[in-house]
Amino acid sequence: MKNKIHFKICDRQVEEKERLLSAIKKEQLEIGYYNLPEQNIDEILEYVDAFDNNIENIVVLGIGGSSLGSKAIYEFLKPVKNPTRKLYFFESTDPLNIMEILSKIDLKKSHFLVISKSGTTVETISIFKYLYEKQGSASNYTFVTDENSALDKFAKEIDSKTFYLPNNVGGRFSVLSVVGLLPLALCGVDIKELLSGADKVKESFFNDGYLKESLLNKAIFYAKYHTTYNINCLFAYSETLRYFSEWYVQLWGESLGKKQCNSAFHVGVTPIGLIGPKDQHSFLQLIVEGTRDKSVTFIKIDDFQNELEVPNLALPHLESLDMLNGITFHDLITMQSDSVIEALLEQGDIPLDEIIIERVSEECMGQLIYYYELLTSLVGQLINVNTYNQPGVESGKIILKKKLEKNKGKKND
Ligand code: PA5
Repeated sequence: MKNKIHFKICDRQVEEKERLLSAIKKEQLEIGYYNLPEQNIDEILEYVDAFDNNIENIVVLGIGGSSLGSKAIYEFLKPVKNPTRKLYFFESTDPLNIMEILSKIDLKKSHFLVISKSGTTVETISIFKYLYEKQGSASNYTFVTDENSALDKFAKEIDSKTFYLPNNVGGRFSVLSVVGLLPLALCGVDIKELLSGADKVKESFFNDGYLKESLLNKAIFYAKYHTTYNINCLFAYSETLRYFSEWYVQLWGESLGKKQCNSAFHVGVTPIGLIGPKDQHSFLQLIVEGTRDKSVTFIKIDDFQNELEVPNLALPHLESLDMLNGITFHDLITMQSDSVIEALLEQGDIPLDEIIIERVSEECMGQLIYYYELLTSLVGQLINVNTYNQPGVESGKIILKKKLEKNKGKKND
């Protein structure tokens, strides 16, 4: 993985970088995600080895940090790896979506993973109740939750297998814990490689490797200019990264959009997920000519390991496009991203950087995930927020619970 930064960074920030590094090293002692690359995954691997071969579908019931990460990885790898089982996600209380997913899966050949750190998330538990009534055998379910949560107690009651995630690993930072590893391993994803990719970025950052400076520089830039460039666009040139983009939006938005610690100021850098080349035909106009409030990070795949090409076909009236003849789609998409980057650089006032991952593989995805988790933590430190809580989403939940109580009262009348 390479990271090319095109914007100017002030070199005289040695002290600031030292301060930031020591704050992150201190945080590392409390916040669990930092150490996930070295965790012991024997329990997961043994469980997967002993798993019923007749099961064709793994169905995750979860939302937010409990689903977005595994979805991002599964969808990234799907076009190049042959998943041993299909992975489905029930993430929404939209009844049409529930019915649509149900119509695709054979319940008898499906195993359900109920994933909720808190164990009391309305979306997850309502869908679980619906499915459990249809398919109420404990052996069809595995639970992933915090030890002693209400869901853990329920799982014990029905004698179902439960995996625990470490207390100090928060939802949106949990993809490299059992939350993401279990569903992925059950579908044939090489989770050792995933963790090894994450470990490479960790090593590089904490042991003076090539990514240390670029991560520190980027974080310092984003924090320093967070009111000017208050939007960060992630422009990924591959359809395989569509769900990675959703994961990034959650990680960045829920971690950094906060009231500052000990202050009344609201801060945050708004995440936007874009996919190239499609969004060249939509959002790009806003980047090139719109308000100068956006930084842009391009993600490119160095080698698609695919030779699909445009045929040598001369078509009447379309002669001006004969220059496409014989080009591989890989080269075409790379030239497209490079052209957009060049055009934006010519503007001279849009902060840009490029992340280049080698290929579509577990290791590369592990790197990308850990890189973004680290970047989020670094920016959070610098803009002085608590990166790991989410008080802003609680008020809506409290009102919903009151409404549900009232509704229950009405139904009982
Ligand atoms: O990052 C977070 O903590 C949240 O987005 C949670 O992942 C999300 O609310 C789901 O919570 P839970 O896993 O407790 O069901």
